[in-house]
Amino acid sequence: MSSTLLEMSGIEKSFGTNKVLKGVNFELMPGEVHALMGENGAGKSTLMKILTGIHKRNAGKVAYMGEQKEYTDPKESQLDGIAIVHQELNMMKDLTVAENIYIGREEVNKGFINDHVAIEKTEQLFERLKVNISPTEKVDHLTVGQQQMVEIAKAISMDAKLIVFDEPTAALTEKEINELFKIIEDLRKKGIGIIYISHRMNEIKKITDRITVLRDGEYIGTVLTEEVTKDEIINMMVGRSLSEDPKQRSNVSPNAEEVLKVVGLKVGNTVIDVSFNLKKGEIVGFSGLMGAGRTEVARAIFGADKRDHGDIYINGKQVNIRNTHDAVKHGIGYLSEDRRRYGLVTGFSIADNVVMSALSNYSSNGIIQDHKVHQESEKYRRKMKVKSTSSTQIVRSLSGGNQQKVVIAKWLVRDSDIIIFDEPTRGIDVGAKSEIYDLMNELVNQGKSIIMISSELTEILRMSDRVVVMCEGRITGELPIENATQEKIMELATDRKEM
Ligand SMILES: Nc1ncnc2c1ncn2[C@@H]1O[C@H](COP(=O)(O)OP(=O)(O)OP(=O)(O)O)[C@@H](O)[C@H]1O
Ligand SMILES: [Mg+2]
Repeated sequence: MSSTLLEMSGIEKSFGTNKVLKGVNFELMPGEVHALMGENGAGKSTLMKILTGIHKRNAGKVAYMGEQKEYTDPKESQLDGIAIVHQELNMMKDLTVAENIYIGREEVNKGFINDHVAIEKTEQLFERLKVNISPTEKVDHLTVGQQQMVEIAKAISMDAKLIVFDEPTAALTEKEINELFKIIEDLRKKGIGIIYISHRMNEIKKITDRITVLRDGEYIGTVLTEEVTKDEIINMMVGRSLSEDPKQRSNVSPNAEEVLKVVGLKVGNTVIDVSFNLKKGEIVGFSGLMGAGRTEVARAIFGADKRDHGDIYINGKQVNIRNTHDAVKHGIGYLSEDRRRYGLVTGFSIADNVVMSALSNYSSNGIIQDHKVHQESEKYRRKMKVKSTSSTQIVRSLSGGNQQKVVIAKWLVRDSDIIIFDEPTRGIDVGAKSEIYDLMNELVNQGKSIIMISSELTEILRMSDRVVVMCEGRITGELPIENATQEKIMELATDRKEM
């Protein structure tokens, strides 16, 4: 056996009085893909930030390639061959792809950015990784998935010996995920050690050798991937087992009234022709491959993007939604898939984010009533189990999954009748997923209606009363939940026939 690449032992870390790592161990061999798992807020990202020198540890040891290390700056770990793809995208939106990849890297820019070299190097890199993005494109113009791919390419371009992927696939398309897995296989063969953080059990089973589980900052254990079942891993993470069973039948009565009807929606060339309806108390699942146009449908209904054609009826009456303000007025809420860009002000507190979109509910004579704000945000913070010290905590300091919960709380507070959830559990751990599902069920029981866009078939089958499948800007089929299966959905999702 080759010698250990990384050995972290007894790592402890507190933020103020909040102890988030309590004696964590982690080991990585060269050529190993090692998963780091645990619920939202368990401490995964923090452990990686300690490794790379972004955070300073309070106790514990880090040995890398046989030497004791204590990095105080990510540049130091980078020079030592440790690269990290962060969970939060942190690129400079105004710079180009190539500039983002090579910014601050001496070998290319000798203190300034030499565009030609950077562009050429980026082209070569993308060719090798089969990434189809122009190096001169502004990052701001890329989709979240493309930005993620750029981050991954950047990490790989560093010729690292150890690469950390912190939830790399959350925003990737199926095709991109497959490319990434090939890349990881390649890196592994070269003897590079890989730390892989993901909440997606299937990925973990597919590509990792070992799994280390954290729960609430504690080290639970390390197991060989091929020797554990999914249920055993979930049990290690949450200390209980959870059901993933599909819904058996629709909970909506056949004569429930129609709350939303969309007819002939067209948006540029991403949404060609979409018509569907939604009933009171119903959850309609929108399935399809990424890029099928589901988010674009949602954004058009919500007034975030302009539609070219299409009529929208709410409770039987045609409405004119020109912007998001109109949509909200008509009782529509939209929980965006890109929480960083559209969902949250990360420099604000949990409470401020939660009530931001419904401030009028908390003011009297134009004065905001702090105690009401506090009460309401506390209620949701508890209900959704947002891992935090209080509702005054700044959102930026929450773990990724807990930020997502705040976005959800924000829309619940707004009291919309029709809520569009776009990938509501992306990046959310199994335990929190259950909580979000419970909440969605509670909402429909109260008579609200939900459109749920999701790329996870198990989620679609578990939550929907009816499944609408899209492919290339059109609805290719609709299945009552009683008839829906993964196979049928996939068939419709890859339908390329002319309609
Ligand atoms: N800069 C910070 N300041 C204060 N608290 C922080 C900071 N960073 C993280 N925390 C807290 O540390 C805990 C662990 O967070 P961490 O981001 O490591 O979780 P995680 O396991 O990566 O979760 P997720 O799956 O949601 O990404 C959380 O309770 C979080 O609120
Ligand atoms: Mg994290």
